[in-house]
Amino acid sequence: MSRLYNDKILCGDSLAELQKMPDGFIDLGITSPPYNKQEKNNGELVSKVVYSSFRDSVPEAEYQENQVRVLDELFRVIKEGGSFFYNHKIRWVNGEMFHPMDWLRKTQWTVKQEIIWDRTIAGNIRGWRFWQVEERIYWLYKPMEGNKKGKELDSKDAKLTSIWRNVPENNNPHPAPFPVWLPARIILSLLSEQEAGLVIDPYIGSGTTAVAAALLGHTYIGIDIDEQYIDYAQERIKNRAQECDKVEKERALHIVKKSHSKRKQEAKSALRLFA
Ligand SMILES: C[S@@+](CC[C@H](N)C(=O)[O-])C[C@H]1O[C@@H](n2cnc3c(N)ncnc32)[C@H](O)[C@@H]1O
Repeated sequence: MSRLYNDKILCGDSLAELQKMPDGFIDLGITSPPYNKQEKNNGELVSKVVYSSFRDSVPEAEYQENQVRVLDELFRVIKEGGSFFYNHKIRWVNGEMFHPMDWLRKTQWTVKQEIIWDRTIAGNIRGWRFWQVEERIYWLYKPMEGNKKGKELDSKDAKLTSIWRNVPENNNPHPAPFPVWLPARIILSLLSEQEAGLVIDPYIGSGTTAVAAALLGHTYIGIDIDEQYIDYAQERIKNRAQECDKVEKERALHIVKKSHSKRKQEAKSALRLFA
């Protein structure tokens, strides 16, 4: 039954589609949901993002409640020991701050890490606060047999820091895509290259997560409410070879040139020189 979902993009509401899925059959998830950017406020929260088939503006409490339900369904369909990476940002409405942790703490997930994505975008010259250049990526973990720590990362991946400094996507007709290096980094760090895993993105948009998964030898499931975005995603997946370079550039960062013990040894020798 779960094989039916391999390499499929479903058109519909993510909560409703997730509710139809069986328990514990997915290895990894990655997404960036709509941010409830409150279009009414002239894009004060997130500017220039307009989706074609829905309005990204509901009462905040309703938005957060829906996100908790979606995240809890994802918790159910992902395997024990599996992870979900959730890209979001801190927002303000009329001076009040909404932090993703406000609702993440209400889900069943263990929050394993908060990663800062420094988007290296140019500074603004006015605003109510210092120019917000970062977004957040939450690594959510489903404990296995009550163990909330999970497995150690390989050195090749653990050497990357909790600040991801890299550019957003700028060559994609979707209004809010994330760049392909981002899901590629997560997949390279969490899944084995020897064994095909199944990766879900419940708000798949232009298919970036699927492109990264397919290029790295894994299968995917996507959900999006907008048929046009899905058509574009399918086209992109078909032509994914064109994005191979970006994924290979990311892979090149996952190489250990010097082991931890070698670096420690070198540091000790250097200290001895100055002693
Ligand atoms: C921030 S975008 C994701 C972009 C994606 N990461 C990419 O790289 O293209 C959010 C997506 O959620 C979709 N969406 C909004 N509400 C939805 C819902 N209730 N169920 C499923 N998809 C939804 C939108 O159509 C949009 O494509």
